[in-house]
Amino acid sequence: MLKSRVNLGKRSYEIIIGEGILSQLGVTLKRLAIGTDAFIITNKFLKDKYGAKLSRALLKEGFNFHFKIVADSEKSKSIQTASMVISELAKFSKEKKVFIIAFGGGVIGDLSGFVASVYKRGTNYVQIPTTLLAQVDSAIGGKTALDLDLGKNLVGAFYQPRLVFSDVDFLKSLDNKQLASGMSEVIKYAAIKDKKLFSFLEDNSKKIIAKDSKALEKIVASCSKIKAKITSSDERETCGLRTILNFGHTIGHAIEAAGGYCGYNHGQAVSLGMIAAIDLSQRLKLINQKLAVRVENLIKLYGLPSKLKAIPMAKIIKAHYHDKKFSGKENKFVLLSGIGKTRIVRNVSLDLIKESIKKISG
Ligand SMILES: NC(=O)c1ccc[n+]([C@@H]2O[C@H](COP(=O)([O-])OP(=O)(O)OC[C@H]3O[C@@H](n4cnc5c(N)ncnc54)[C@H](O)[C@@H]3O)[C@@H](O)[C@H]2O)c1
Ligand SMILES: [Zn+2]
Repeated sequence: MLKSRVNLGKRSYEIIIGEGILSQLGVTLKRLAIGTDAFIITNKFLKDKYGAKLSRALLKEGFNFHFKIVADSEKSKSIQTASMVISELAKFSKEKKVFIIAFGGGVIGDLSGFVASVYKRGTNYVQIPTTLLAQVDSAIGGKTALDLDLGKNLVGAFYQPRLVFSDVDFLKSLDNKQLASGMSEVIKYAAIKDKKLFSFLEDNSKKIIAKDSKALEKIVASCSKIKAKITSSDERETCGLRTILNFGHTIGHAIEAAGGYCGYNHGQAVSLGMIAAIDLSQRLKLINQKLAVRVENLIKLYGLPSKLKAIPMAKIIKAHYHDKKFSGKENKFVLLSGIGKTRIVRNVSLDLIKESIKKISG
């Protein structure tokens, strides 16, 4: 069992990472003393696959619980679903000391976090992330979100969980595409902050792709540590530190938006965005070609795309201007100046951006 900690004064919390640790969930929750009645938000697939084990872990320590099933889709991050979940939560929580468990990937985590942030002006919640992306990224840091028709993640609050409990055993049932999607964020962390992790990813791809528990535990722990540290110093992305987590995301978000969110998934879009950012870094002479090729090769090693198909450049450029991180007329790119080293560059010229998008165009 490995641990990291998000240090935010009274709102500090632990991230517990391990293999087969679900059976210890009850004891951990009891120690936290955040409530006796768990309202578990999940989807049907996860309840069918892991619900019995989760129930046993809670029953063993005398917790009362209720499963709330939502649809397995990004569409669950909607005001309508949140409203339905809150109504059921209100019925369940009568005369109980309730806390929420987000049991699922990033969709469930974002929805549950939002519900927790508004129910009774803030209710305790725990993240039990079940995808690699959620374990290394979305479950940590307290960004909660719902989508609107006008765009993704437009409604939300910063609201920290009381615990993140990452059992890497859940990752065994991910399909290759979901694993690769999470690996894109793992590569991002290594590229921006952790040279050793980068080499580990280069040397252990077979083990990781085969979902070897120890290898998964190592990458989840390394990434959690980075995200915990960054969140502890820049909770609300106000002093710039958290910005580096957007490496690959400026063009990545534009690719997702330009494809109407049904082309490339988030991880694939971020991979393409990282390759574009690497190309920009090289054009601005922050890194040499050898290093650029090293990052691109790592992305390819994990089955992530390096060439963009079927989305016109004009659409990506247009979407890039609508990115919510794009403030006024100034653009802002997180670029690399080495493995584990970043440089924030503002006002990159449109010509350069176009050249980098050309680099990823198939
Ligand atoms: N809050 C944040 O900081 C943050 C950061 C990054 C992404 N996000 C959000 O996260 C979401 C994406 O998260 P995601 O990639 O986890 O997607 P997801 O939650 O949709 O999960 C992907 C798929 O994997 C399935 N799944 C979950 N656990 C599984 C398991 N153990 N075995 C097999 N299948 C499993 C899900 O049912 C789903 O079909 C997006 O909505 C994104 O906006 C939030
Ligand atoms: Zn991301």
